[in-house]
Amino acid sequence: MLKLTEPTFLANIHFMPSKFINILGIETSCDETAAAVVADGRVVKSSVVASQTKLHEKYGGVVPEIASRAHIEKIYPVITEAIAQAKVGKDDIDAIAVANQPGLTIALMVGVTAAKTLAFVWQKPLIAINHLHAHLQSALLQENGLELPAVALIVSGGHTSLYDYHSPLEPRLLGCTIDDAAGEAFDKVASILKLSYPGGPAIEKIAKQGNPKAIKFPRSMLGKDSLDFSFSGIKTAVLYYCRGQDMKGQDKVDSMSAEQIADIAASFQAAVVEVLIKKTQRAAERIDAKTILLGGGVAANAELRTALQRMCDSSSPTKKLLVAPKQYCTDNAVMVASLAYHKFKASLFADLTLEPKASG
Ligand code: KG4
Ligand code: ZN
Repeated sequence: MLKLTEPTFLANIHFMPSKFINILGIETSCDETAAAVVADGRVVKSSVVASQTKLHEKYGGVVPEIASRAHIEKIYPVITEAIAQAKVGKDDIDAIAVANQPGLTIALMVGVTAAKTLAFVWQKPLIAINHLHAHLQSALLQENGLELPAVALIVSGGHTSLYDYHSPLEPRLLGCTIDDAAGEAFDKVASILKLSYPGGPAIEKIAKQGNPKAIKFPRSMLGKDSLDFSFSGIKTAVLYYCRGQDMKGQDKVDSMSAEQIADIAASFQAAVVEVLIKKTQRAAERIDAKTILLGGGVAANAELRTALQRMCDSSSPTKKLLVAPKQYCTDNAVMVASLAYHKFKASLFADLTLEPKASG
């Protein structure tokens, strides 16, 4: 019987000389089941995303068991659709790439199992992708002449990280959150304010009607040299504002006017954006960055994009800002397949013992 870990696996693969390198990317790290076919790391031939928002919204956050079950249900149709939309056959696909870390282990497991199965059955190389590094890659999809060094800010529901970016294969972590991620804070504050899930878009929408200076929520900078983040304090500050110190008072949200809720949302958003900008500026000064990259779900936030652009324009010398296109800010498989192209060119392949990893 053939063992899945057979060392001759890669040796048996026949690389078809083709004009483009087509990679099938698979993403299941959290609550989106996604597959995409990308040629040469840039040409998006297809991108299919099945979102589970509806399944998780009543819980105000992602429930891992529900996510895993939904991935199992959707993975086959999503991959089939991505291949059909790309109008490619299995012989046109040069490699299978999958995000195997970081994320919810039982969610990652579904994508990893699907990718390993396809790699084995189709005899294609398998490429393991770090989900956060992939988010960073989505800011580079449309870029030709990247000026280095660059600082990358990745802000998502699970992570808030700053990287020193020199090459797609080795981004160096400069700092990350020590507690809640920025997106998580948006989601939790939206839940306190009884807004819809996911919280980021809901807060951004209502904040447009509010005064960002109405309430001075805390900005946690963690010391003058730190490149780490902390967003649990601001979430607690919003909670105490709405329910009284130590939550001893009554929940005031139900009796608040729409203006009051909009003011809280706008003031919270302004505080988070200010911290993200200041830390990114600090990182950029430290490594003398010429370019700033922005990716991850929270990168869809217009206030953050505008504030970061302002920071880049007012720096001396000015810096170039590259932001992921909106449709590739939140989780998708285009970013996975795009980064995989660089690993493909460097022959960085995984074998069939690949496992999901919660951290990364
Ligand atoms: O990158 P992503 O899709 O998933 C993770 O890898 O975590 O990010 C999802 C996060 C959620 O917390 C969501 O509330 C946040 O991104 N988000 C936003 C916006 N759109 C999505 N946060 C602020 N403003 C937005 N417009
Ligand atoms: Zn993500």
